[in-house]
Amino acid sequence: MKLGVAAALGALVLSSLYIIFKTGSFPPSLLPRWAGLLANSDANSNFIGPQSCQPCHEEIYRSFIQTAHFRTSQVASHDTIKGSFAEGRNVLKTRNPSVYFKMEQRDDGFYQIGYQRFDEEIRTRSERFDLVTGSGRRGQTYLYWSRNRLFQLPVSYLAERDRWINSPGFTDGEIRFDRLIEPRCLECHATFFSVQEGFEYGNDYLLGVACEKCHGAGSKHVELHSARRAAKSGAFILNPRSLSREKKIAGCALCHSGPLTPKRPVFSYQPGQPLEDYFFQSGPGASAEPDVHGNQVALLRSSRCFVASAKMSCSTCHDVHKEQRNTALLAQKCMQCHQPRDCGTVRRVGERARELCVDCHMPKRTSQAVRISSAAESAAPSLRTHAIRIYPDDAKTVLKGLPLAPE
Ligand code: HEC
Ligand code: HEC
Ligand code: HEC
Ligand code: HEC
Ligand code: HEC
Ligand code: HEC
Ligand code: HEC
Repeated sequence: MKLGVAAALGALVLSSLYIIFKTGSFPPSLLPRWAGLLANSDANSNFIGPQSCQPCHEEIYRSFIQTAHFRTSQVASHDTIKGSFAEGRNVLKTRNPSVYFKMEQRDDGFYQIGYQRFDEEIRTRSERFDLVTGSGRRGQTYLYWSRNRLFQLPVSYLAERDRWINSPGFTDGEIRFDRLIEPRCLECHATFFSVQEGFEYGNDYLLGVACEKCHGAGSKHVELHSARRAAKSGAFILNPRSLSREKKIAGCALCHSGPLTPKRPVFSYQPGQPLEDYFFQSGPGASAEPDVHGNQVALLRSSRCFVASAKMSCSTCHDVHKEQRNTALLAQKCMQCHQPRDCGTVRRVGERARELCVDCHMPKRTSQAVRISSAAESAAPSLRTHAIRIYPDDAKTVLKGLPLAPE
């Protein structure tokens, strides 16, 4: 009996299966900003991909492929999509009782399907998960190809709750498949895409923020060292270690200083170059608060540590070839310039505070950009601020969890 009902429902869905909303037309509002800044199709000829670095830089390669940078964009698959397709966990309800989304695994891939119930019929719209953006530390957003353009799917994934959510910026209860992906999004989340006017992408792309994004195209370097195995020094490749502090930081600021307005075609920035030749200085759009798409560079620059030391850069604390999530180990980076006894609180509290520098001086803040926007629930991931300073309230909270050392 139950089967019969299911089959009947299935037939109903199929018979009324048609597209609710057409794939979005090209949003004219985006055009002026990008006029003359697309079309980069001949810029990539020397990119060869991270696998080609493996034979000679095995150790770096092995640890690097575990990092969020490497995994920040991938082809959609069972392994790369973090959300669940299991019955019962694959539905996102909305505050509109007649609108919901379902995530389905089919023979030819994974799909998001928007359902809208009208009196007698159910209308659906479905698109395939083609690309995954976000390593999934906090969350993931999914893209689909429509001819040569990429669009954002309406359902994303929030790691903190291990569940599906409305994509950031989408209105709960609406079914939309028309959010076009701007090339700047891919400039931060991938190594290379070839782009043509009209936001069309070529078949030529390299996913993940990989080696050549920070070191420059590697083909000449590999050619030389393959031919001359004995060569000791690395030629035709950039080592950011040798750059001035400002140029070092520019290599990270390309993606870690919030949304920047481009002056030149996307994907034309080369590491080692000054950022201001390629982008206008970040304007009011750049957030002063830490966030998923916030501005770690500006926050760090606002710190006494940065202002009062000549050398501090992102690499002072981060080795980007490795996953580093242990804040006790990261606290040891503070000791390049400080002693635990420099801190009055550590002197009072003793040993146990030594590993907690980061908790008190780089506290977590809640994301304003990524949150569950349903009526029933609210949740948002938290991020570390890079404005290193004294936060009396956070310090009190941390101290509550610590027994005082005997006087
Ligand atoms: C055929 C071997 C080989 C391959 C393949 C190779 N490298 Fe190298 N690389 C070397 C050697 C040898 C050095 C010099 C010794 C060292 O620093 O390890 C070097 C040095 C470097 C340096 C430091 C340069 C400096 O000036 O200090 C970087 C950065 C680098 N390689 C990146 C890469 C990247 C990125 C790739 C892949 C696109 C790659 N390498 C592929 C052999 C290779
Ligand atoms: C091409 C853009 C790009 C560049 C250049 C870049 N990053 Fe990132 N970075 C990202 C993205 C995107 C993420 C988020 C990855 C994710 O989780 O999906 C990230 C994440 C990180 C994280 C958090 C990773 C973790 O595992 O917790 C750190 C730390 C970081 N970047 C530091 C740096 C530093 C330091 C530099 C410069 C040496 C740099 N990044 C250059 C795009 C970039
Ligand atoms: C200016 C560069 C930049 C642009 C543009 C950008 N991102 Fe990001 N994105 C980042 C960085 C950097 C992080 C990681 C920040 C952190 O961990 O503090 C991130 C984080 C994310 C995450 C969370 C990853 C995780 O698990 O923590 C998702 C999902 C994401 N971005 C998707 C997108 C999409 C989709 C677009 C375009 C529509 C986009 N981003 C545009 C730089 C960018
Ligand atoms: C997000 C940017 C980024 C990515 C991606 C990246 N590197 Fe690096 N790499 C750096 C920075 C920054 C330095 C200099 C670190 C320093 O100043 O201590 C560096 C240094 C190096 C060096 C020289 C080491 C030394 O001690 O001087 C080699 C070799 C290297 N990287 C290879 C690679 C390879 C191979 C990959 C990919 C598997 C890779 N890198 C990915 C940013 C990056
Ligand atoms: C490259 C060196 C360097 C590193 C690394 C460094 N600092 Fe600093 N920091 C400084 C300098 C220099 C000052 C200014 C000291 C002064 O004014 O006497 C400072 C000041 C501070 C202050 C006082 C800030 C204020 O607004 O009064 C705090 C708190 C602090 N650092 C904490 C840290 C913590 C925690 C870490 C590790 C996460 C760290 N620092 C890493 C160099 C550094
Ligand atoms: C004084 C040390 C220090 C310096 C300098 C520093 N960071 Fe960090 N960074 C940290 C610590 C500590 C964390 C927290 C790691 C964690 O909680 O897993 C962190 C986390 C991050 C994250 C992940 C944020 C999050 O909450 O997911 C990004 C992205 C990042 N740093 C980028 C940068 C960039 C870009 C620079 C240079 C402008 C930089 N950092 C300079 C110490 C530093
Ligand atoms: C429980 C919170 C807490 C921890 C853990 C902590 N601090 Fe502090 N820190 C504070 C507070 C509060 C102040 C300001 C008042 C004081 O000195 O107690 C401060 C002051 C400082 C100052 C400025 C000193 C001055 O006189 O200007 C520095 C530098 C500093 N801390 C570094 C560190 C380092 C490095 C660590 C890790 C070894 C650390 N702190 C661990 C809360 C903390």
